[in-house]
Amino acid sequence: MDMENDRCEKPRRVSTGAKWGGRIDPDCARRHSQSLGQSSAKGRNRMRDDPGRRASRDCLGSFELASATTIEAPNRRDFLFLATGAVGAVGVAALAWPLIDQMNPDASTLAMASTEVDIGAIPEGQIVTVKWRGGPVFIRHRTRKEIDEAQNVQLSELRDPQTDQSRVQKPEWLIVVGVCTHLGCVPLGHDGKYDGWLCPCHGSVYDTSGRIRQGPAPLNLAVPEYAFLTDTRVKIG
Ligand code: FES
Repeated sequence: MDMENDRCEKPRRVSTGAKWGGRIDPDCARRHSQSLGQSSAKGRNRMRDDPGRRASRDCLGSFELASATTIEAPNRRDFLFLATGAVGAVGVAALAWPLIDQMNPDASTLAMASTEVDIGAIPEGQIVTVKWRGGPVFIRHRTRKEIDEAQNVQLSELRDPQTDQSRVQKPEWLIVVGVCTHLGCVPLGHDGKYDGWLCPCHGSVYDTSGRIRQGPAPLNLAVPEYAFLTDTRVKIG
């Protein structure tokens, strides 16, 4: 038998580094076994040493690509994919921005976020209440006596220890949110043991720095963000 003509069709290697798996065609293997007996002595010896190897090599009748890894350089098509993706991302962002932007607060809402108050008309010893972000803010023009009382308190006496200096920008002006830190009632000024504020709901007492001194409230009256625009004008928020 002519081994070259009788050789089964071999797979063509299509990718560098491919691993091949498959099964042996039994008819092909039988023909090779017969031809083995007609081969030269040298060939017989070689095939006798490893007949399965020869049959396996020549008689793989069906093949499956077990795994193959091919690394290719970027080509024009890859570039077009990337360019198309980038343009698409920009387009999506351009379409999404108006939707995101309309969620931002409008000008009227931003205007409510801060309020300006002329404090030049508030006499010493008086408290005025202004509205800020829908809630009350107390602006107290403190007397010398009230300032001294606020400054001469030991921190160890306080439930929510804060110095008076840390709560004011100018000693004569105390600005605090007018909401009790217990359950949110509006305290009454110039009332209570310390002549600061008294909350009528459950009896919390605040001093002339707005610090909690008695009652169930856990914290001092909050100090909002504010800035003096002039000596007589303050911006809250
Ligand atoms: Fe002010 Fe309760 S709400 S003491």
